Amino acid sequence: MTATDTERAQALQALRATLAGCSQCGLHKGRTQVVFGAGNPEAALMFVGEGPGFHEDRQGEPFVGQAGKLLNELLGRIGLNRADVYIANVVKCRPPENRDPTPDEIAACSPHLMRQIEIIRPRVVCTLGRFATKLLAGTDLGMTAIHGKAKAMTLAGVDTIVFPVFHPAAALYTPANRQVLEADFAKLRPLLDRGLAAMSPGTAGAGEYMTAGVTEPEAPAEAAAPEAPVGTAGVEAPAGTTGLEAPVDALAGRSRPPLQRTEQLPLW
Ligand code: URA
Repeated sequence: MTATDTERAQALQALRATLAGCSQCGLHKGRTQVVFGAGNPEAALMFVGEGPGFHEDRQGEPFVGQAGKLLNELLGRIGLNRADVYIANVVKCRPPENRDPTPDEIAACSPHLMRQIEIIRPRVVCTLGRFATKLLAGTDLGMTAIHGKAKAMTLAGVDTIVFPVFHPAAALYTPANRQVLEADFAKLRPLLDRGLAAMSPGTAGAGEYMTAGVTEPEAPAEAAAPEAPVGTAGVEAPAGTTGLEAPVDALAGRSRPPLQRTEQLPLW
């Protein structure tokens, strides 16, 4: 293990410890435990879901239920497994009855997600579904417009590529949605290997780009649902936590090899 591994793992561990008894929002009342996140602290690819469900709340790990099984399968199809990536959620405690997280809950919890991004410094952040996408992709465009498309962004002071896909739960019982998700996942590999150089102009409008060689799939059923107004963009980080434009800390001095940027691309 390199010093970098150790530092990142230790920083995540320290953050996990500070959140173990978190009561910053009402979700703490119904949780079994905080579901902090899991995976490789050195991951180049980070997934961000919505929030823990029943099984995640019980087991303390994200995406261990049916949606998690599908996520594992999708990862396997591109030659990755959970140990290669890092998985976290927008909110770290289970919303009762699996309801949507509220804007207040997201605002309270998102600084912790930003700190995880700051520590891990992923090359690609794949947002799973509309809540993570709304929070991180910095756009009001819906999932139908931007799933499977990439955008260079700076999150928590980290230069990264945000890549929205539909939530695996939307594909569990709908084969058409699953095909869309598989097609979008297929783009992750070239994106990880070549950064934005893997992207080529798309067809949906000016400034949009698609991964070369991958055709645009049809919008899945989730796309028909109205976008929930999460409204957390620009949320101020509470004292002692890290916001979108997080200050540079000791970890931030070390960086991954630069992304290949042949063009400056707002991709959606
Ligand atoms: N769905 C999510 O968004 N996150 C989980 O951890 C599990 C299911």
